[in-house]
Amino acid sequence: MRHTKVKDLLNSTTTLQEINAKGWVRTFRNNQFIALNDGSTINNIQCVVDFENTPDETLKRITTGAAVSVTGSLVESKGAGQKYEIQVNKLEILGDSDAEKFPMQPKKHSLEFLRENAHLRVRTNAFGAIMRVRSVLSFAVHSYFQQKGFVYVNTPIVTGADAEGAGEMFQVTSLPLDNLPKTEEGNIDYKKDFFGKHTNLTVSGQLEGETFAMALGQIYTFGPTFRAENSNTSRHLAEFWMIEPEVAFNDLNDNMDLAEDFIKYVVKYAVDHCGDDLKFLEGRLIEEEKSKPQADRSEMPLLEKLGFVMNNDFKRVSYTEAVDILRDSTPNKKKKFQYIINEWGADLQSEHERYLVEKHFKCPVILFDYPANIKAFYMRLNEDGKTVRAMDILFPGIGEIVGGSQREERFDVLVEKMKALGIDEEELWWYLDTRRFGSAVHSGFGLGFERLVLFVTGMTNIRDVIPFPRTPQNAEF
Ligand code: 4AD
Ligand code: MG
Repeated sequence: MRHTKVKDLLNSTTTLQEINAKGWVRTFRNNQFIALNDGSTINNIQCVVDFENTPDETLKRITTGAAVSVTGSLVESKGAGQKYEIQVNKLEILGDSDAEKFPMQPKKHSLEFLRENAHLRVRTNAFGAIMRVRSVLSFAVHSYFQQKGFVYVNTPIVTGADAEGAGEMFQVTSLPLDNLPKTEEGNIDYKKDFFGKHTNLTVSGQLEGETFAMALGQIYTFGPTFRAENSNTSRHLAEFWMIEPEVAFNDLNDNMDLAEDFIKYVVKYAVDHCGDDLKFLEGRLIEEEKSKPQADRSEMPLLEKLGFVMNNDFKRVSYTEAVDILRDSTPNKKKKFQYIINEWGADLQSEHERYLVEKHFKCPVILFDYPANIKAFYMRLNEDGKTVRAMDILFPGIGEIVGGSQREERFDVLVEKMKALGIDEEELWWYLDTRRFGSAVHSGFGLGFERLVLFVTGMTNIRDVIPFPRTPQNAEF
């Protein structure tokens, strides 16, 4: 007999004879009531076992974590809290779970403990909800761009290029590390390596993406990216997923419009399709916040915060204005910032970004026209000669969620910039070809997918919104 998903049973409009459900026991109480979850929804279905006619040996095996199959009828529930429940006629234990040893006990576990058990944490309510929301959000990303006629491009994971020019790359090699081949000059001979050259895991698909935008018009990537930055923070992963749209003939304003519209769409999509999960996560957050000092609590419940983002314009502010605001701010004057902002040109740290968003503007902010020397080589130089057409989108509780720019489309200016920064023109010959042949204004951005999932789920640590996080000193599972 084919089993029916718990979600469909709970959404049934009638009682049903002869149904089968399969899932994992969350709790078993009074030797009679199983709370069964199969991952299709945050909600469990109550299964009422006829304990008088069930052998004791079987009842003993109904433990938290066990996989079971129940056959019976879907009846109206007499108990409070649910419309329907399963009156069980036949119960089969599919896989036992030793109650003493199963780590996911029906009680509150710390997030640290759950991270150490990332293979089982997805059996908890919170992680089930987070991972379903993550899945719906990825679908929303594709839905948005496909509806608008963007072409989905799979850019390479192994590449010779350092797209961000920041040198934070994981090297890819098949050379024997204990016996490296050397050139006559004594350097490592990468000609003998698998690809015949030095390669690394991609930090961004942007450069390859640009070449496609300059043929297909509007493209997007959505794939894993890797950064060997030693940032052990709640916002950084060594392996994260990035969405990078790139559009020919878009200038920076078009780029900001696209990013804002895109974010609003995917947030709304999650709100429309993940109601139960988001309601649960909102409740979780309210509980968690009770243990925090008043000042650190978020001002809005989760769903209200998502609604706020969907329904309000993001504030657009130039870097120069932002620096003026920060310089005059109380935490700057009272030296409460770790990095004091003294002058124009300073790079903004996450404490500054969060001040702007959470304390000053109290809404998502798009900062644009940054100093050229704190941004990547490919950004369009403004007429002032010192700022570039860059934009970052800053979100409450997150800081930077998007980084993007209008690209430098002028061959000579780009080459000069690369020279100044010591970026190898030979290595990027193919990138420069886009400026040699039919160059045009174009723009794009990258959105860190996990930072989006963080925002939508209200979680606070990025390790909790990706199935198996990779961070410095940690690649378990
Ligand atoms: O600002 P970034 O470095 O921009 C780029 O990579 C550009 N090539 C994007 C483009 O214009 N096509 O990264 C983009 C976004 C950040 O805003 C942040 O959300 C996320 O990627 N991000 C990270 N997320 C998790 N862990 C990390 N270590 C991240 N580094 C960046
Ligand atoms: Mg950035």
